[in-house]
Amino acid sequence: MKIATIVGARPQFIKMAPVSREFEKAGIDEVIVHTGQHYDYEMNRVFFEQLNIREPDYYLGVGSGTHGYQTGEMLKRIEEVLTREKSDLVLVYGDTNSTLAGALAAVKLHIKVAHVEAGLRSFDKRMPEEINRVLTDHVSDYLFAPTETAVKNLHNEGIKKGVYLTGDVMYDALLHNIKIARRNSKILEKLSLKPKEYLLATVHRAENTDNRRNLERIVEAFVESGEFIVFPAHPRTQKYLKAYGLIGKIKSVGNVMLIPPVGYLDMLVLEENAGKILTDSGGVQKEAYFLKVPCITLREKTEWVETVEDGWNILVGADKEEILKAIKEFEPNGETYTYKFGDGKASEKIVKILGEDYAL
Ligand code: UD1
Ligand code: UDP
Repeated sequence: MKIATIVGARPQFIKMAPVSREFEKAGIDEVIVHTGQHYDYEMNRVFFEQLNIREPDYYLGVGSGTHGYQTGEMLKRIEEVLTREKSDLVLVYGDTNSTLAGALAAVKLHIKVAHVEAGLRSFDKRMPEEINRVLTDHVSDYLFAPTETAVKNLHNEGIKKGVYLTGDVMYDALLHNIKIARRNSKILEKLSLKPKEYLLATVHRAENTDNRRNLERIVEAFVESGEFIVFPAHPRTQKYLKAYGLIGKIKSVGNVMLIPPVGYLDMLVLEENAGKILTDSGGVQKEAYFLKVPCITLREKTEWVETVEDGWNILVGADKEEILKAIKEFEPNGETYTYKFGDGKASEKIVKILGEDYAL
């Protein structure tokens, strides 16, 4: 059996690491195809190094661009690879343009598609991720759902065949790496941070970066909160902070520490030791929940509804007053904690299901 894995963006490197390890254990042949959607060292290579992911077999070098350009270039280049490799199956992760391009290239060549993190919905079609998820799910043969909510979402759209509740591979990744991170990361010392005496922020979603008013309001809230906030900024965010003239505002006050993106191990340590996390990331919302850190989500909607239902996450959008209120007042009650993200063996289950089906 031969699998072609298509990845390209930061969260996909993290998601693929535990699954690829299982493929190797099971002796399944995996071809790794990197679209090149993320290419800076700290968005890309650092994850391969820290998570011991082997070199991709193909690096397609697509890079940045508009949705049409980026997805189109990926589609062309992935098609060439798949035509050459003749894999039995294509595996895609999450909801980025690399996910959609991989799924589309495969299905047009009549190659089966497996989607890890299937069934997630924010029900907000203005988000590019929502379009990528819905389209990918509807052409997938294997839909590996991380949560029961995800399974229900798929059923509601009439997708029943090929749906498996496996748990979340990001939970697997966190369990595998948290002890390594605690042992090896020196990020707290490097940034002179004391546990629980700072907040951690990440912002990168289109609705918060491309929209000037939203990014301004978020930055104003950070600056006016008076809290010490560590802010590892995605290159997209750095670009817009500069374009909107917000760097000066951040520097003039001094309570917001703007730093380049950090590696996964440093990120886990920063998350675990933060008093609260402010984010619009999907993955970071979940990691906050796994690590029992209160999360303030800078979005109107989330696909990770369990974290909100359980009281660990609050949605505040880009509303300055709501952000300030949450920074000051939001506290989970600390007792509700319903594990809904599997048992840390999602990757094992996924590989077992694929391995058994193809052995028949
Ligand atoms: C993408 C995903 C998003 C995911 C995020 C993870 C899509 C539509 N969006 O968003 O769902 O949450 O990845 O981080 O696929 N850039 C660099 N260096 C890099 C990568 C990007 O400078 O290595 C800059 C470029 O200016 C680029 C911009 O960031 O135009 C946006 O990158 P892109 O890959 O288009 O989207 P993300 O915002 O990273
Ligand atoms: N992450 C990281 N360094 C950072 C910011 C995020 O290692 O500076 C990790 C984070 O721990 C999580 C993943 O990247 O595992 C989330 O990716 P991102 O926020 O880019 O995308 P999303 O999950 O929103 O698609």
